[in-house]
Amino acid sequence: MSQIKACLFDLDGVLVDTARYHFIAWRELAEELGFVFTEQDNERLKGVSRAASLNILLEIGGLTFDEAEKARLAEQKNNRYVEYISRMDSSEILPGALEFLQECRAAGIKTALGSASKNAATILNNTGLTPYFDAIIDGTHTSAAKPDPEVFLLGAQAVGAEPAHCIVFEDAEAGIEAATRARMRSVGIGSPDTLGAANLVVPSLAQVSVAGLREAFAAV
Ligand code: BG6
Ligand code: MG
Repeated sequence: MSQIKACLFDLDGVLVDTARYHFIAWRELAEELGFVFTEQDNERLKGVSRAASLNILLEIGGLTFDEAEKARLAEQKNNRYVEYISRMDSSEILPGALEFLQECRAAGIKTALGSASKNAATILNNTGLTPYFDAIIDGTHTSAAKPDPEVFLLGAQAVGAEPAHCIVFEDAEAGIEAATRARMRSVGIGSPDTLGAANLVVPSLAQVSVAGLREAFAAV
């Protein structure tokens, strides 16, 4: 059996429910630009960097802008998003997340964040999650976005674990692909319809335990 030495967590949609704030902020921008942005459209933005998300949004609206204007629009969206997350507290931690982080640490398993977000530090601080991580790798530390494996490889390195001994927790397809490319095992948080490429899929971290993982990955 391959050991579990580190658990690497995506943030948005795995530990906290920030996906709805991203959605509201993008929808407001779309409204100002004169088109409708639906919750279904928003699925395409999950796990995707801010700049790439804006490109997808503009494609949906059938609009093109130069780089300077795109930078201004991305900043406008982010200012709104930051307003929302500034009011977050521990009540917005997703079910099972805190308990599982605590369980990992009690079992001597290292914990690392692997997020595309440049707002990760604010979210972790406002929800009180910062002390539960041995390493925090976010959008301010990486040069390539998921599905590139960089964010998870940096996380593994920061906690001194081999990729084969790491498990990634992700709610986005691009994140599962990043884990696979990093040669790590993965647990999809959400629906098997979108996360079928993960080694295991569960509805939330409330269904995950260290013992359960050891059993599920005994042969992997
Ligand atoms: C990811 C989210 O975690 O972070 C994406 O799933 C988001 O929706 C990306 O675009 C970048 O986040 P931020 O906070 O830097 O705009
Ligand atoms: Mg996510």
